[in-house]
Amino acid sequence: MGKRSITRAAKSSLVELPAMPPALAVELPAEAPAAGTSVKSAQPAAVLSILNSQGLFENADRIEGDTLERIREDLGECTRCRLHTTRNKIVFGSGNGRAELVFVGEGPGHDEDVQGLPFVGRAGKLLTQMIEAMGLQRDQVYICNVVKCRPPENRRPEEDEVGTCSPYLYRQLDVIQPKAIVCLGLTAAQALLKTKEPISRFRGQWLDYRGTKLLATYHPAYLLRNPPAKAEVWKDLQKVMAHLGLKAKKASK
Ligand code: URA
Repeated sequence: MGKRSITRAAKSSLVELPAMPPALAVELPAEAPAAGTSVKSAQPAAVLSILNSQGLFENADRIEGDTLERIREDLGECTRCRLHTTRNKIVFGSGNGRAELVFVGEGPGHDEDVQGLPFVGRAGKLLTQMIEAMGLQRDQVYICNVVKCRPPENRRPEEDEVGTCSPYLYRQLDVIQPKAIVCLGLTAAQALLKTKEPISRFRGQWLDYRGTKLLATYHPAYLLRNPPAKAEVWKDLQKVMAHLGLKAKKASK
């Protein structure tokens, strides 16, 4: 489904926006915020330092006529960094190549490494619930990661690994040209914003990535460890929904 299908899904949904998505409601605190409630502001200085950071567009020049297929071909059976020595499958990304919304995670975990698909493990199931709570289906969005190979023991990818792999992510985003990018966790946010600021300084704020609105929120794996943080994430996703003209999924009886 293309960009139009998201709009269509949003328009056909006539339900009132609930204060929290049904799929996540069970574990959210009672005082979860209503739609449109503003999030606590990050410190302006932090945001400014991100927006003004040098090298924001480094290695990210757009390639004329680029396609997702070409990017995947260029990646090949990549051996550019040490992660190739322990990976099983490259996890390039999946979903709608013309999506209005792209989710960017950190890197594949065990299940993703086995299947070659992003976010198919426990965190992925939660991400699917989040997407559906937004009134979308997984195949309407695009999902990818900063690094395409699983870091051993699910450690955070190292700086040189991110540096080697992130140009492919930049190209994916350039090709898809979504209306919004949601960074899931610090690694994705740092890779796209070229910042070292902690995520708490800018989480839930609209920022700019090469002319596209970008919002960073907590990673689903963090939410599995800290369920109360789901309320904050739902506030963030409501901002994204407002931007895309989406209505939350109707609660199932
Ligand atoms: N965590 C990520 O960041 N990406 C995945 O694909 C799976 C888990």
